[in-house]
Amino acid sequence: VNHLLGIKYLNQADIDLIFKTADHFKEVINRPIKKVPSLRDITIANLFFENSTRTRLSFELAEKRLSADVINFSASSSSVSKGETLIDTVNNILSMKVDMVVMRHPNPGAGIFLSKHVDASIINAGDGTHEHPTQALLDSYSIRERLGEVKGKKVVIVGDILHSRVALSNIFALKLQGAEVKVCGPKTLLPRYVESLGVGVETNLRKALEWCDVANMLRVQNERMEISYFPSTREYTQQFGVNKQLLDSLDKQIVIMHPGPINRGVEITSDVADSKQAIILDQVQNGVAIRMAVIYLLASKIKP
Ligand code: CP
Repeated sequence: VNHLLGIKYLNQADIDLIFKTADHFKEVINRPIKKVPSLRDITIANLFFENSTRTRLSFELAEKRLSADVINFSASSSSVSKGETLIDTVNNILSMKVDMVVMRHPNPGAGIFLSKHVDASIINAGDGTHEHPTQALLDSYSIRERLGEVKGKKVVIVGDILHSRVALSNIFALKLQGAEVKVCGPKTLLPRYVESLGVGVETNLRKALEWCDVANMLRVQNERMEISYFPSTREYTQQFGVNKQLLDSLDKQIVIMHPGPINRGVEITSDVADSKQAIILDQVQNGVAIRMAVIYLLASKIKP
């Protein structure tokens, strides 16, 4: 059985194939008839044990554009609250003849654990602080679309790197494709292991922005912190928030990214988020084509 559990398990050829397939689906979903019959015999369950707007809707739309049958599960309205385990929950769903599972879960490694215990293709839609592979794929795809290629580009990931699955998956994906990567944020939100991944560390936002071609601005994930990792939101914004004045003072136009959800006025001001320099909504749009590609490629291995 094939899975997409993390970027860690992919190679350059896998990413090239996903992007080539996404190019095709991007063209398809821009046609008046956006649907293809490719996955008519496949049933996919979207299991969300953690909140989501973009990822959940994007997967569902991708599945429907491919003509798959789709069922949706959200933990808050399920029997998980009655004590049912993850494996029991998923095996019950699979017994209804489901072929593929898309899962978001708060625990790091939940998808890897599940893949060892159930007989279905698993796509990780974000597992705690670990990985968010389809986000990293759509991020790289969006850089490629805006700048021509990822190889050789300088990308800084700014913010709460410590709690961010988006950061880790992006680091793996960008390094694999030959980009130069730095992380920037308060020391307390930069994990010690990050340099061992071949990533530079910068605690001065201006210097990081002067260096980069692309800045990926992350949200501070207060929901994953038991204590505060920096003095106050105002101080965070002063030191690590990007605003128009700061961008205009650089001697080049850099590309601004954000995976969402945005905290406007904290890590990014509205005039930057809504500017032509930002490709935030392109990222969301590309998410559908990337997820169609991932699902299609995995399903082609389970189709009779
Ligand atoms: N980027 C992202 O994962 O957003 P959601 O949490 O809304 O899915």
